[in-house]
Amino acid sequence: MFVFEDIAFLHFETIDSTNTWAKEHASELDLEGITCITAHEQTAGRGRQNRNWLSPKDENIYATLFFCIPKEAPYVMNLSQALAIACCRGLKELGFDAKIKWPNDLLIEQKKVGGVLCELTSFKDRIGVVLGVGINVNMPEIVLHAIDQPATSLAALSNKPWPVKQVLHCLLSQFIESLNMLQYKGFSALKESFDELLAFRGENISFHNGDGVFQGKLHSITEDGRLNLELDSGEIKTFSAGDLV
Ligand code: BTN
Repeated sequence: MFVFEDIAFLHFETIDSTNTWAKEHASELDLEGITCITAHEQTAGRGRQNRNWLSPKDENIYATLFFCIPKEAPYVMNLSQALAIACCRGLKELGFDAKIKWPNDLLIEQKKVGGVLCELTSFKDRIGVVLGVGINVNMPEIVLHAIDQPATSLAALSNKPWPVKQVLHCLLSQFIESLNMLQYKGFSALKESFDELLAFRGENISFHNGDGVFQGKLHSITEDGRLNLELDSGEIKTFSAGDLV
């Protein structure tokens, strides 16, 4: 069981990417606890599918959590979903109604407010988890417009600035809870929350992965967090990776 006090914080003014740094320095970090690496700005912030993650100075959360899990952990694919759930719960505490666009994009009012990038490194007998989260906290409208998809920030939604550190701590407290649930009870303990937070359920969507583009209705989430898409033929197709477009 982790508690908030198990988190060691490492902060950088400027860094290429907190995820890249964590991967490169994993062997120097505490393998028993959790390290939270943050930065005021990233010069090469990365998103899923090799996208850039716009990371200007001082405005947002750029954080990576590093910790180890056993090699055979069955929930490894659900770590990013546990963090997405935690972010939604934390944002709810602050008064925002955030949803999850499968697998782990964070949306408010159907615009992207944040995302999670999970990468793994291998140690002798364990997996090193590099779990990055970016949340647009104080990004102004003018910068949000430069993002290649509809995007928003907490400040843009509420017309007031938010203290980045306080928002981060709120999300981290929630993450410790989700992580403990996941490790000790499995994804089934988080599934109900994930279902409630899922965006576009029952709606017609386009979905793409390495095999192509699929049209259908977002049907449900499997017991282990994969996406069930109901194709126009009525067939249910299950995906472990890919993107809603
Ligand atoms: C996505 O939605 O595509 C995931 C975005 C993840 C961005 C965060 S910011 C902190 C960490 N460092 C990175 O380079 N990326 C993640």
